[in-house]
Amino acid sequence: MARRKKIYEGKAKILYEGPEPGTIVQYFKDDATAFNAKKKDVIEGKGVLNNRLSEFFMTGLNQIGVPTHFIKRLNMREQLVKSCEIVPLEVIVRNYAAGTMTQRLGIEEGTQLPRPIVEYCLKNDDLGDPLVTEEHIAAFGWASQQDMDDILSLALRVNDFLSGVMLAVGIRLVDFKIEIGRIYDGDFMRLIIADEISPDSCRLWDIETGEKLDKDVFRRDLGSLTDAYTEVANRLGVMPKNSGQFSKPTLIN
Ligand code: C5P
Repeated sequence: MARRKKIYEGKAKILYEGPEPGTIVQYFKDDATAFNAKKKDVIEGKGVLNNRLSEFFMTGLNQIGVPTHFIKRLNMREQLVKSCEIVPLEVIVRNYAAGTMTQRLGIEEGTQLPRPIVEYCLKNDDLGDPLVTEEHIAAFGWASQQDMDDILSLALRVNDFLSGVMLAVGIRLVDFKIEIGRIYDGDFMRLIIADEISPDSCRLWDIETGEKLDKDVFRRDLGSLTDAYTEVANRLGVMPKNSGQFSKPTLIN
């Protein structure tokens, strides 16, 4: 059997050439990184949970007419996605102050923002993904004005969808990051949601207790990351109960 071709390996995922032109297989690893990979660990089962959760969110977005790269889940750790050209920006939407916004502006963590605030960071690990303005984006040609209008509208639609889905299961969507891809259809170019949407790229807080159910558990050593992600998956009905227990197979005599 021919070995499939690896296209790219990132911090949390590996991309392989897909079975048909225009497709890619996205493999979710168990590797967790934070602070631009200064903190690293392997969290058993994280990849399985993120594969399922990203499938759940992307499928919902496709269903409400927000285009995404997601085609179908292939197995526990892999999904088939559309190949696209990634816009070199991380698009962050914030509903409550947290993370770098609290550090930069001194706003107390958890403060509700007067409206969703969208930020753009340049995707560049060497520079630590710096915050950029629309002036930089236009001047350096990372995206056109039309792209920026479309990206803003996509980001706000994703925010409304995710906020509603999470609210229904008692979870506050504090903020999240998405990546945008370009796909070409003849002479036409479309922007779609790419990469992943999972607790690795969102801040999710329990509405009642404020408990953190996202990657901050790993960033700040707050407990078990798989327990937190399993809680999110269970509340959303994404994984059957107990499937988050990634015990090793046992031999039955
Ligand atoms: O760190 P910061 O507060 O700017 O992050 C905002 C949101 O974007 C958080 O939900 C975080 O998990 C996500 N993010 C990400 N990947 C990055 C930077 C931020 O998923 N490289």
